[in-house]
Amino acid sequence: MTVPKYRELAEALRAEIVRAPVGSPTASERQLAEDTGVSRMTARRAIDELVREGLLTRQVGRGTFVARPVVSVPLQLTSFTEDMLARGYTPSSSVLHAGLVPADEHVASVFGLTVGSDVMLLARLRLADGVPIAIERSHLRARLLPGIEGIDFRHESLYRVLIEEYGVRFEAGEQVIRSAIARPADAETLEIPHGSAVLELVRTSVSHGEVIEWTTSTYPGSRFELSARIAPVT
Ligand code: GLP
Repeated sequence: MTVPKYRELAEALRAEIVRAPVGSPTASERQLAEDTGVSRMTARRAIDELVREGLLTRQVGRGTFVARPVVSVPLQLTSFTEDMLARGYTPSSSVLHAGLVPADEHVASVFGLTVGSDVMLLARLRLADGVPIAIERSHLRARLLPGIEGIDFRHESLYRVLIEEYGVRFEAGEQVIRSAIARPADAETLEIPHGSAVLELVRTSVSHGEVIEWTTSTYPGSRFELSARIAPVT
């Protein structure tokens, strides 16, 4: 199957845009056609495609500008910090909540605990190069992680802390992916319009047969995509 030329060009541009600062101008159709040796029609279609995806915005009489980066991450049992660093972004976090909370019925059933048992709740806004990429709400099995409520997660990776401070290495995980509409408060935190589509990833991670982490990550649909390797069923 041959890929249409404009798609190929859009793909190449996408790789550049992800690295470009938000708001920076991009090449005009004419410039792009000249630089890459394609027709203006092909250049226009490539730009149109990226505008449709929300990566570029057109401003009448001014040109085309980088709207927001799209972070593309493979579906695997890695941390936000690792995923961002591997893609050349600088990760950072702001802590929205950190402390022990009593497990409600759902949380208790996920961890196999009795309702009301202490679990650690860590809610963070995760950023890549200063752009909000996700809100992550992690519930953690506090009994196996003494003192975790005292750790400052502004500059820490949860997975690094789990491995290095507690010797917890995940051997398995399950991830559920679903679409949703951003809750109004989340939309504000993520700096996206109210009513925007978000992707929710719910991860349950297991170490030594016990659920340690149950995290819901909420990503703006316009800034994040997941990819997974697929293979024929054997
Ligand atoms: C990913 C996972 C979360 C996990 C987080 C840890 O985003 N989906 O379930 O809690 O990574 O990230 P970090 O180690 O950077 O704190």
